[in-house]
Amino acid sequence: MIPTIDFREFHEVALPARLAAGNGALAGPDATQIGPLAIRTPDGAYTYRGTGDTVEIVAGDADAKTVVGLDLDSWRGLVADLDTPPALFYGGRVEVVRGNPLRFVRWEPALRAMFHGRPIFDPATVDLRDRAGAPLAIARSFTLDEIRSDDTDARHFLATAGYLWVREAFDLAEVAEMLAEADLLHDEAVEGDQQSWWGRDAGGRAVLCRVLTGARRERLQRLHRDDRVGLVASLPGIELRNDAGNDRDGITVLWKTPNVVEGLADLPWHRDCGMGGHASACPRYVMTICLTDGSPEAGELRFLPGSHMFSHPFIDGRDESAPRGVSIPVAAGDITIHIGDVMHVSMPPTSEAAPHRVSVLMGFASPEAKHHRGERHYNDVLLGADDGQVAHLADLVTPDQPSNA
Ligand SMILES: [Fe+2]
Repeated sequence: MIPTIDFREFHEVALPARLAAGNGALAGPDATQIGPLAIRTPDGAYTYRGTGDTVEIVAGDADAKTVVGLDLDSWRGLVADLDTPPALFYGGRVEVVRGNPLRFVRWEPALRAMFHGRPIFDPATVDLRDRAGAPLAIARSFTLDEIRSDDTDARHFLATAGYLWVREAFDLAEVAEMLAEADLLHDEAVEGDQQSWWGRDAGGRAVLCRVLTGARRERLQRLHRDDRVGLVASLPGIELRNDAGNDRDGITVLWKTPNVVEGLADLPWHRDCGMGGHASACPRYVMTICLTDGSPEAGELRFLPGSHMFSHPFIDGRDESAPRGVSIPVAAGDITIHIGDVMHVSMPPTSEAAPHRVSVLMGFASPEAKHHRGERHYNDVLLGADDGQVAHLADLVTPDQPSNA
């Protein structure tokens, strides 16, 4: 399914043409800040160097600050927007020949701009408007009744902001039933069972972050046939399939815990296709049902409004200069739905005291969506460790050289 592209011809003919046609202007300013990157494959090496307003392609890798080695399939996956630098790192498919490996990750938006013409997110130029032309109220919510009577504003909001918040979709008795099943799943999960993600707290204790097999539980499985879920999932206005038939990933349950210092308990700013498959599986949508409390104290969810139309550099959530984004103060029974491409972050709880956020996640994608290498799920590259620990990318590729190397 990966198109067979000739490495040399691509760099000598196809890519220069794309850059000249406008992709160079999209990538140039960001690429220039990062420093030259070279990709080395069995068919040779080329260096990408930002020159201010475009990107220059140079044969060889002598002048690159970072040189990464990829096999041809991985490189073709990158060119087809099927693979990503983080997925290649997690999958052990990158050889760091020289320099800081995080530079390859930082180049991702510029590479997507160069290869595909996808613009890079710039908050200064994003201008989101409601249907009347007024600035979009980016923290607004909807009710199911509003949507049932007229869903035009909700559809517009979701398409424009990239997310949507629906208040009080489930009553507290229903929430209690779902929470009881979540507790059972929590108790059943075993480190290294390959269907759960784990982290570690400051005391070294293993902490359960998510269970992928919520669909095994009857009350949670029933969500797939729920009218309210169906109504919200209809808002994108395209045919979407959920994974109800899958015992893994059909329903995921997620727990926030304070003071988790290792693992992916607190996902950094990310897009849901960050582990690959944008070209084969997007647009995809993720619905989140809040079972407890979504306040900052409980571990809040934030979005970067309008970022789904763009690429955004990888940002470590622990970075002081990370964007603030928009907080969605969900409460028990509320739903959010977001486009997989919109940048979002799951913040650590700011309070030691419970409740901390517990959420049920459901994924929706086009019926044609598939994994380009025939595997089950792109995020499976994160599984595999015997103890179920999922490494943080910044820790996984910790450079042995300073970041300006
Ligand atoms: Fe996500």
